[in-house]
Amino acid sequence: MRIAVVGSGYVGLVAGACFAELGHDVIVVDNDEQKLAALQAGQVPIHENFLPELLNRHRGKRLTFSGDLQPAVKESSAIFIAVGTPPTEQGEADLSYVESVARSISAAINGYKVVVEKSTVPVYTSEWVRRVILRNAAPPDLFDVASNPEFLREGNAVTDFLYPDRIVVGANNERCAAVLREIYAPLTDGRYYRRPEAIPQPGQVPIPPKLIVTSTQSAELIKHASNAFLAMKISFINAVASVCEAVGADVKQVCQGIGSDSRIGARFFNPGIGYGGSCFPKDLKAFRAVARECGYEFRLLDEVMRINEEQRERFLRKVRSALWTLRGKRLAVLGLAFKGGTDDIRESPAIFLVETLLQEGCRIAAYDPAAQERAREVLGSSVDFAADAYEAARGADALLILTEWDEFANLDLKRMYSQLKYPVVIDGRNLYDGESMAEFGFTYYSVGRSAVIPEHTRDAAAPARTLKNS
Ligand SMILES: NC(=O)c1ccc[n+]([C@@H]2O[C@H](COP(=O)([O-])OP(=O)(O)OC[C@H]3O[C@@H](n4cnc5c(N)ncnc54)[C@H](O)[C@@H]3O)[C@@H](O)[C@H]2O)c1
Repeated sequence: MRIAVVGSGYVGLVAGACFAELGHDVIVVDNDEQKLAALQAGQVPIHENFLPELLNRHRGKRLTFSGDLQPAVKESSAIFIAVGTPPTEQGEADLSYVESVARSISAAINGYKVVVEKSTVPVYTSEWVRRVILRNAAPPDLFDVASNPEFLREGNAVTDFLYPDRIVVGANNERCAAVLREIYAPLTDGRYYRRPEAIPQPGQVPIPPKLIVTSTQSAELIKHASNAFLAMKISFINAVASVCEAVGADVKQVCQGIGSDSRIGARFFNPGIGYGGSCFPKDLKAFRAVARECGYEFRLLDEVMRINEEQRERFLRKVRSALWTLRGKRLAVLGLAFKGGTDDIRESPAIFLVETLLQEGCRIAAYDPAAQERAREVLGSSVDFAADAYEAARGADALLILTEWDEFANLDLKRMYSQLKYPVVIDGRNLYDGESMAEFGFTYYSVGRSAVIPEHTRDAAAPARTLKNS
């Protein structure tokens, strides 16, 4: 099928590349000229596993890029809208990009087309998109609007798209649903997974995935409610972690105990410095605003957001209590992305913490395997960017772990010890086990577990070199 995808961000580019991988002819449209030029020149503008492979496979063949929406719409049977829906100051979703795309689409409807919202939008947006297209004089029998929310996680976007837990299609009639069924058929009938060159199956995901057809309103709500539930799971375990700290329990053990209950499940129980990124913070606010508009005060969501903010403050208190005063202290920061596996720093708790520590007079050397360039645009020269974790740690008063990159969970601890001025690690992602950190001589603070202070440093934090020789 010929498909247009509007927006070449984390969702649009991945969706476009994956639709091409499924055998469709795809044109990805963006109005950002710089991004387009980079894509057309063969660059890969975002950090995602397997994305370079897919772009190499299909670029210029089944996958093309354009800045011109209307010709792309004219030649396509399905048009996916994957533009941004950022929050307004009041916390609602700003739908102006969606509206402007819908308006342009209406002038190019030259045969039956399905317009698909892939952006995360409040309930009833598909109805608004339909009205906008109608108002701009498109014949009502020549188009339908469907909702096909995207559940991919940045860092695993390609495999999440090709091996989804489920595909949700909100369509108000069978003609429209049939188009989406056809688009996803290579996944739902298992054909894609039998191809020798298929992107490898990650972990234990069930294949083929089920495709759930709902009304458009239900599909829109499924996306907001899913993100709200996941954020709630994170805030819940962060609240439990705070209680663990107060009573000397170990949140990792508690997670194992809770997560083994099949009704609850172990996934997403990762206490830390709170969620961030371009989705959870804005989607919770938007869902809260939608509920309020419908007459329901969703106070549970307020608490989820409050706990998330408090989690960052708690971490800052930990840094203060480990180092006493902050002015002039040199800190090594590992991780700037909002989570491991991505270069995305939008609403990253790591960036918030770095900015706050800078305001408190710290000097910071930071390293992130993928997000360094984007972070430089925000932090400028206020931070020294290091070539690797060990360079960041050189001469630092403490090491802060702020993003759960695999490489930060596998540091050469002996080498790290020799780099730091003081062997103090404050781990916002619980990547290490306190006992082994103590064996290496580190004073180790984490989330939801007691601080571990090696025997010989109980009274004072001696310089690392002295400790190593003792
Ligand atoms: N990032 C994620 O992990 C994720 C996951 C699921 C859903 N979503 C949702 O998907 C949507 C897109 O998110 P994203 O992270 O890909 O955003 P993004 O900001 O990375 O990309 C949006 C793209 O749309 C382009 N754009 C804006 N207006 C346009 C127009 N009129 N014509 C053509 N292109 C236009 C922008 O130039 C940009 O490249 C959002 O609603 C988001 O909530 C995101």
